Amino acid sequence: MQKVIKKIALLTSGGDAPGMNAAIRAVVRTAIYHDLEVAGIMHGYDGLINDEFVKLQAVSVANIIQRGGTILKTARSARFMTDEGMELAFNNLKKHNVDALITVGGDGTFRGAKVFGDKYKYSIVGIPGTIDNDLVGTDLAIGYDTAINTVVDAVDKIRDTAESHDRLFFVEVMGRDAGLIALRSGIAAGAEAILMPETPTNIDVLIDKLKNVKRKKSSKIIIVAEGDEAGGAFEIAKKVTEKVKGYDARITVLGHIQRGGAPTCMDRVNASRLGYEAVLALINGKRDLMVGIVNKKVEYTLFENAVKHIQKMDPELVKMLEVLSL
Ligand code: F6P
Repeated sequence: MQKVIKKIALLTSGGDAPGMNAAIRAVVRTAIYHDLEVAGIMHGYDGLINDEFVKLQAVSVANIIQRGGTILKTARSARFMTDEGMELAFNNLKKHNVDALITVGGDGTFRGAKVFGDKYKYSIVGIPGTIDNDLVGTDLAIGYDTAINTVVDAVDKIRDTAESHDRLFFVEVMGRDAGLIALRSGIAAGAEAILMPETPTNIDVLIDKLKNVKRKKSSKIIIVAEGDEAGGAFEIAKKVTEKVKGYDARITVLGHIQRGGAPTCMDRVNASRLGYEAVLALINGKRDLMVGIVNKKVEYTLFENAVKHIQKMDPELVKMLEVLSL
């Protein structure tokens, strides 16, 4: 028989992402609306192990929908991947009479949730929250839209100075294993080339591309995903400028500004919907899965499938960039 859920707990884990607060607000308010108690767990899985539980009420999440970061704080927990850490976490959930858990995060968060859920037959539902957007089963993970808009805003500014000085810029964006930030923001900022971990990077081909543009360009911008197999922006710039003299090249690493700031309208609405649906999923007896939105419809994807990021970029978008950057 399906267990009746009376109390849920919620944590955010992995890299923070703008919109996580909107998801927290939605989870808390939806749960309270359905007469469930909600506990927040501070610092992700580490807080679960260290017993950092806080009571969340409707008022606890007032005035946070517009704030970046996560009021629950976050961490990447190595301890949660140990038997000892999981045991402590499970005992704390029992101690606080928590029947089910909602985790907001990305790849690592869901891998942990899968192992823990299987080991203790515990109900967990995940909400996709990662600026990298490298999860299967949702069009938009929380934070991605804000992050790409931050990148576009920054590259637009870089373009102004690049144009004024006739310079070549290498701009490094986040994405340790995924080039989705690079691809979208590169297209939107009119980049001359985008280097991503999912597509092979050949420095000679890049140089040919830079040389063979059909008209004289006064600025050129290369977007480099930090996880590109040929290296980060500094390394790639070095390789290019060693082979071809005469470029007045500069490098900008955008870094953690991509993870901060007020979430966009898209991220706030998406996060609100995902939070709302995650609570309904638990009430309806679902577990071991991530809730997502695909083509405007709610979909559920098993954790093990959600983390299978397909190492392939949309070839039509890649081709389009080549055509449009002539
Ligand atoms: O997982 C999101 C992400 O922003 C990656 O793109 C990036 O490589 C990583 O987090 C950086 O993590 P940290 O904040 O631990 O340096």
